[in-house]
Amino acid sequence: MVFQTLIERKRDGGELSPAQWRAAMAAYLAGEVPDYQMSALLMAVVWRGLSPGELDALTAAMLAGGQRLRFDDYPLPLVDKHSTGGVGDKVSLVLGPLVASCGVAVPMMSGRGLGHTGGTVDKLESIPGFRTALTLAEAAAQVRKIGCALFSQTAEIAPADARLYALRDVTGTVPSIPLIAASIMSKKLAEGLGGLVLDVKTGSGAFMTEPARAAELARTMVALGQSQGLPVVALVTAMDRPLGRAVGNALEVEEALATLAGEGPADLLAVTLALGTEMLLLAGAAATTDEARRRLTEALGSGRALAKFGEVIEAQGGNSAVIEDPGLLPQAEAVEIFAVPAGGIVRRVDPRPIGEAVVAMGGGRRRLEDEVDPTVGFVITVKPGDRVSAREPIASVFARDADGIAIGMEALGRAVVIGETGEEPLPLLIDRIEG
Ligand code: URA
Repeated sequence: MVFQTLIERKRDGGELSPAQWRAAMAAYLAGEVPDYQMSALLMAVVWRGLSPGELDALTAAMLAGGQRLRFDDYPLPLVDKHSTGGVGDKVSLVLGPLVASCGVAVPMMSGRGLGHTGGTVDKLESIPGFRTALTLAEAAAQVRKIGCALFSQTAEIAPADARLYALRDVTGTVPSIPLIAASIMSKKLAEGLGGLVLDVKTGSGAFMTEPARAAELARTMVALGQSQGLPVVALVTAMDRPLGRAVGNALEVEEALATLAGEGPADLLAVTLALGTEMLLLAGAAATTDEARRRLTEALGSGRALAKFGEVIEAQGGNSAVIEDPGLLPQAEAVEIFAVPAGGIVRRVDPRPIGEAVVAMGGGRRRLEDEVDPTVGFVITVKPGDRVSAREPIASVFARDADGIAIGMEALGRAVVIGETGEEPLPLLIDRIEG
């Protein structure tokens, strides 16, 4: 195989055969294809797309060479949820333990931050001692024991995605329907699930900014699941403002803990309950939407869901005392309040500059080898449509130093738009797609 001929064919709008996709992925994993050539191929896919046959072949090629989680003879139903990525999207941290506390097993394999969006694994690693790098055997054993594991993609599962994900993050090759679909589905198909719920985000803070493109991505992944025998339900949800109030790794863990304790922001709770309802229905753990919501709400109110998160933290080597005392999470060196200059109605809280600022402040990666700072980020207390008065404090910036504070304050100045009249935000729950 001469790799550049594959790049050229894709660049010119041609199709690669299943054998070529298999060979390309195998050669990349074997170290025979350098990152710059793979980046060029990925960029050609961003521009040219993939045919349905190529998408199936790429997904299968990414699954191949990896292992699968096995849960033979395990009595509980297994489901997972995956988000296409957003700003302030800490739903997984709440949903994994919440659904597990309702008697459904959740082997939740998550990713790191991608582009301007945060990643569940980076968030979890802000909990002192928390180990996300479980082996597959450890993850499976933990799911069998306590019903939930929150772990990072290992080299054992969909190894091509693990490498491609990190490469795409730093080469501008994330926003592509087939690349996102193959990335997500190759991982999820390896988890040994009985059902999968997808949260496909849309709006300026998502990779698919247009709802119609998000719905197309959702349909693509539902169809991929169908062709591979995995029942998939996708919700398209709003990402034209940050979800919840906190953005940034440790800050989001703190907000997830509050939500598990029944004190979370309304939008985060609404999205979590909608996705959780789909998970319980897919698992057969509830017969109706009403019953599913009742069970989830009861698990939150009784403290069972929060206790389950404590068990998960403990099992993965973390300090579960954070549950009682979130002050044990790493804290930022510098904090500053942001106030609106003039009064009026909040027209917009644009998630994109907020997510980009978290990366610029050190909370995400600009190069593959970057370490993330768990402490930096924002807490923004207003939503589109809220009325504010002049000089009202509406956000806090958490940073390493004065330079970080300046980046954060500048980003808030661009993100928060105040006017005389409101702007219609996207409905929180936009669409539901199933096979
Ligand atoms: N999440 C993933 O796992 N992969 C993508 O490509 C985008 C979001």
